[in-house]
Amino acid sequence: MYICICNGITEREIRARADNEGLRTLAELESCLGVGAGCGRCRHAASEVLNESCSNPRNVASGASA
Ligand code: FES
Repeated sequence: MYICICNGITEREIRARADNEGLRTLAELESCLGVGAGCGRCRHAASEVLNESCSNPRNVASGASA
């Protein structure tokens, strides 16, 4: 599902970045992918995806911290 229409960023891509690169904040997501840098309508949904990914025990076990 698309989260950021302006930049064509999907939920899957956000999760992958969180898992593989340790992105944890909306600012990091915006810096890397541009999420939220356009109209900004995606910011809330993108934060929710990040929060879900951060609360995934697999990610916590990898040593990533908030
Ligand atoms: S939908 Fe993400 S910046 Fe517009």
